[in-house]
Amino acid sequence: MPLLTDKVAIVTGASSGIGRAIALKLAAEGASVVIADTVEPPIEGGESTANLIEQAGGTAIHLETDIAQWNAVDALVAATVARFGRLDVIVNNAAIYTSTNLLETSPEQWNRVIGVNLTGFFHCCKRAVMQMRTQAPVNDVRGRIINISSQHGMVACPGDLPYSVSKGGIVQMTRQIAVDHADDLIVCNAIAPGKIITGKPGVANDPDALDYSRRRTPWPRLGAPSDVAGAALFLASDMASYVTGINLMVDGGWMAG
Ligand SMILES: NC(=O)c1ccc[n+]([C@@H]2O[C@H](COP(=O)([O-])OP(=O)(O)OC[C@H]3O[C@@H](n4cnc5c(N)ncnc54)[C@H](O)[C@@H]3O)[C@@H](O)[C@H]2O)c1
Repeated sequence: MPLLTDKVAIVTGASSGIGRAIALKLAAEGASVVIADTVEPPIEGGESTANLIEQAGGTAIHLETDIAQWNAVDALVAATVARFGRLDVIVNNAAIYTSTNLLETSPEQWNRVIGVNLTGFFHCCKRAVMQMRTQAPVNDVRGRIINISSQHGMVACPGDLPYSVSKGGIVQMTRQIAVDHADDLIVCNAIAPGKIITGKPGVANDPDALDYSRRRTPWPRLGAPSDVAGAALFLASDMASYVTGINLMVDGGWMAG
């Protein structure tokens, strides 16, 4: 039995990497998926996420969205509801980083990272809750929010101040929404990936960064986007009942060490 039959999900940053794997997984379990990204072509190459889902017999649309802009997020949720009738799940995944410490970070870099990773998540959570509160509950839940945080929201990310501050904020935003909107029957959880191999540019795939991650990770391999997608499926589904406000680590034991 598919776990997400008749569910409608938005996944931000789902053209590439972890978001792409989450969108594919939710669609494979029967959800109609809206891919919300600033671009459509995957960083790692290949077919767009929406095309892959459609080719596999699923339902997906791409809506170009910059989550840093309130008007864009407002239009995203409105278009999702116009097309599919409701919003059951939003996965807030899109994020950027600068690899700059305190002294190296310009005010513009700070504002851009916080503008996407924190303000953008705020826009998406707020607009999703506005919609979810209007919906009739299904199995005692009006909607589910999944925020992608990071191990670096709990421990420092060496040499990357804005990113790690933003991720710490996402962990707290998750707890705050879970508590404030429990009475609304809105579930809000986070997932903290450890080192996951994706195609993203920047230092993420430099040999030194990969060496550091291998030394920090007890499990004998680094993560794959599908590892995070499995956790997202759990939190998106009714399998996760009475679970709210958590930050689920999918990190090969990074935070246990
Ligand atoms: N890869 C890792 O090791 C790792 C570890 C911990 C946490 N994370 C988190 O997982 C998430 C995904 O990471 P990834 O490695 O797949 O990244 P990625 O760079 O491969 O993909 C990010 C996607 O987000 C999109 N995006 C960027 N800015 C956007 C905006 N303003 N509006 C809409 N879309 C936007 C990009 O176009 C891209 O498709 C991020 O939140 C990241 O912080 C990743």
